[in-house]
Amino acid sequence: MAKIIGLGKYVPEKVLTNFDLEKIVDTSDEWITTRTGIKERHIAHKGVGASHLAYEASKIAFKRAGLHAGDIDLIIVATITPDTSFPSTACYLQSLLKANKAACFDVSAACAGFVYALTTGWQFIKSGLYKNVLVVGSEVLSTITDWSDRSTCVLFGDGAGAAVLTKSNKDNFLSAYLGGDGNEAELLIVPGGGSRHPASEETVKNKLHFIKMRGNELFRIAVRVMVKAAKSALAKAELGIEDVDLLIPHQANDRIISAVAERLNLPREKVYVNITRYGNMSSASSAVALCEAYEEGKIKKDSVVVLDAFGGGLVWGSIVIKWG
Ligand code: ACO
Repeated sequence: MAKIIGLGKYVPEKVLTNFDLEKIVDTSDEWITTRTGIKERHIAHKGVGASHLAYEASKIAFKRAGLHAGDIDLIIVATITPDTSFPSTACYLQSLLKANKAACFDVSAACAGFVYALTTGWQFIKSGLYKNVLVVGSEVLSTITDWSDRSTCVLFGDGAGAAVLTKSNKDNFLSAYLGGDGNEAELLIVPGGGSRHPASEETVKNKLHFIKMRGNELFRIAVRVMVKAAKSALAKAELGIEDVDLLIPHQANDRIISAVAERLNLPREKVYVNITRYGNMSSASSAVALCEAYEEGKIKKDSVVVLDAFGGGLVWGSIVIKWG
C-alpha cells in the first residue's frame, strides 16, 4: 500500500501573456480567454530541459516529504518533451538530485502522463518491489510549439510537478482507470524526429517537429473519455460522484473542464482550475494542479480527490485518491 507524502511544483519565471501573443500571431486576448480560459503561461529559457524543471519541483516535494534524494528507489518522469530521446529525463533528474540508488524511466502518455506515472509508481510500491518512488510530470512544451500557428501556440506552457510516494499501512490510492485509442494518433502528434520521420532538412522545412492538433475533434472526444474515465475509476473504488471532494481535471481548455463537470454533475467549486495562469502543460498540468490544490488547503485529510486526464495517443486516465 502507498501514500503521497510530499508534493512540489515549479514553473519558469518568464510569463507570456495573451497580449504578448497578440504581437506574434493574429489573435486576441478576447478570443483566447473566451475560447480557452487561458490568460498567461510560463516559458522556459532556451537550453532548459524537462529535467531542470523537474529538479526544482522535486526538491520542494522532498522537503515536504521529509525524505532525501538518496532514499528514493525509483524515479518516473512523465514527459513528451524529454531532454533527449535517450537517455531518459528520469536519468538526468537522478543525476541532478544525486538520487544514486534510484532506478529511472520515462512515461510517454502526453497530457495523461502524470496519471499514468502515478498509477505506475503506486503499483511498484504495492507490489513490494520499492519503498520510495518519485513521480514527476515535466514539460518544456514551448520547444515543440509552432509559434506561427495561432491555433496551437496560444494553448501551451512549461512547468513541472512532483509527488513523493512511500509505502504505508493504508492505501491513499483507491483505484485507477487507464485507457487509450491508438487509431486516433494523428489527431494530436509531433510527427517528426522519431524513427518514422527522423530529423532531416525536409522535416524541419515542413515543421514536423512541432505539435499538430485537430482541436475540434479532440474537444468532443476529450469530454466523452474524461467523463468515462472518472466514472469508471469511481465505480472501481465503489464510490459515487457525491463522494468526490475535488476533481482535478487536465487543464487543456476551460470549456472542456466545464463540460466534463456538468456531465458528471459536479458543482464548479469541487473542480480545480488553474489553466488561466499556466495554459496546458501536458503531463505537468495534473501534477502542478494537485500540488496547488494542496497548498491552497483544498485537499485535507480524508478528502476524496479524483485526477482525470486526456491527451495525445489518444490516452486517458483517472485515479481516485483518499488523502491520508
Ligand atoms: N485566435 C483567433 N482566432 C483563432 C485562433 C486564435 N488563437 N485559433 C483559431 N482561431 C479561429 C479559427 O481559425 C477559426 O476561424 P474560422 O471560423 O474563420 O475558420 C475559429 O477561430 C474557430 O476555430 P476552432 O478551431 O473551431 O475553435 P474552437 O472553438 O474549437 O477552439 C481549441 C479551438 C481551443 C483548440 C479547442 O478546439 C480545444 O481546446 N480543443 C481541445 C484541445 C485538447 O484537448 N488537446 C488535448 C490535450 S493537449 C496534449 O495532449 C499535448
